[in-house]
Amino acid sequence: MDAGAASVGTEAPLSTLLRKETKVAHRLAEGTRLARAFFTGKLTVARYAEGLARLYPVYAAMEDALRALSADHPLRGFCLPRVFRADAMLADLRYFGVSPEPLRAGAATRYLARVVELTQPVQTLLVAHAYVRYMGDVSGGILAGRVAQRVLRLPSREGLAFFAFEGIPEPDVFRREFRALLDALPRDRAGTRAIVAEANLAFDLNRALADEVWDA
Ligand code: HEM
Repeated sequence: MDAGAASVGTEAPLSTLLRKETKVAHRLAEGTRLARAFFTGKLTVARYAEGLARLYPVYAAMEDALRALSADHPLRGFCLPRVFRADAMLADLRYFGVSPEPLRAGAATRYLARVVELTQPVQTLLVAHAYVRYMGDVSGGILAGRVAQRVLRLPSREGLAFFAFEGIPEPDVFRREFRALLDALPRDRAGTRAIVAEANLAFDLNRALADEVWDA
C-alpha cells in the first residue's frame, strides 16, 4: 500500500473536510454586499439578472462537461441533471430580457476561465466547483428561493426557475447523496488538499463575481 492510499483510511471524509475548511469562505460569501442587498430587499431585478447572466456560462461549461463524461470517469456520478441549473437560468434570463453576453475581462471571466480549464479534459478538481455551487444552491439557495419573489418584488414565480428544484423534493436527501458521492471519490492526501483548496478558490471566485456585479 502506498502512503497516499494509507492516508485515505485515517483522514476525515471529504464532505466533512470541505464543510469545515470552507467555513470562513462561506461566511465571507454570505456577507457580500450583493447577498446582503438581496436578503434585505435592496437588490434591483436588473442587478439580479446581471448576476445570473454572468454566472450562467460557468454553470453551462460545468454541466456540458459533466454530461459528456464517459461511464468510467471518476466524476461520472456528479452528472446530476436534477440539480443542474443552466436551463433554468436561461429561462429566467429570457423572462428578464437579458442575454448572457460573453465577457472578455473581470471576475466572471476569471471564474469561467478556471472552470473551463478544469473541463479540458475534465479533472477531478472540477468536483470542488460542483460542490460550491450545487450544495450552496440546495442549502442557502433554498432559503433565498423562499424570499426571492418578495425581495425582488416580482409579480409571480416567473423568472425564479433558478430556485425551483422540481427534481429535488427533499433537499436533505440530495445533500446526503451528494456528500456520499464526495466521500466515495478515490483520492490520496495530496488530492484531498487540492480539492479543498479548489473549493476555497471557487468561493473566492464567487465572491469576486458578486462584488463585480454590485459595483457595475
Ligand atoms: C447570504 C447568502 C447565503 C446564505 C444565507 C447561506 C446559507 C447556507 C445554509 C443555511 C447552509 C446549510 C448549512 C448546513 O446545513 O449545515 C449553507 C450551506 C452551503 N452554502 Fe451557503 N449561504 C449563502 C451563500 C452562499 C454562497 C454565495 C455560496 C457559494 C457560492 C454558498 C455555498 C454553500 C455550500 C457549498 C454549502 C454546503 C456546506 C456543506 O454542508 O458542506 N453559500 N448555506
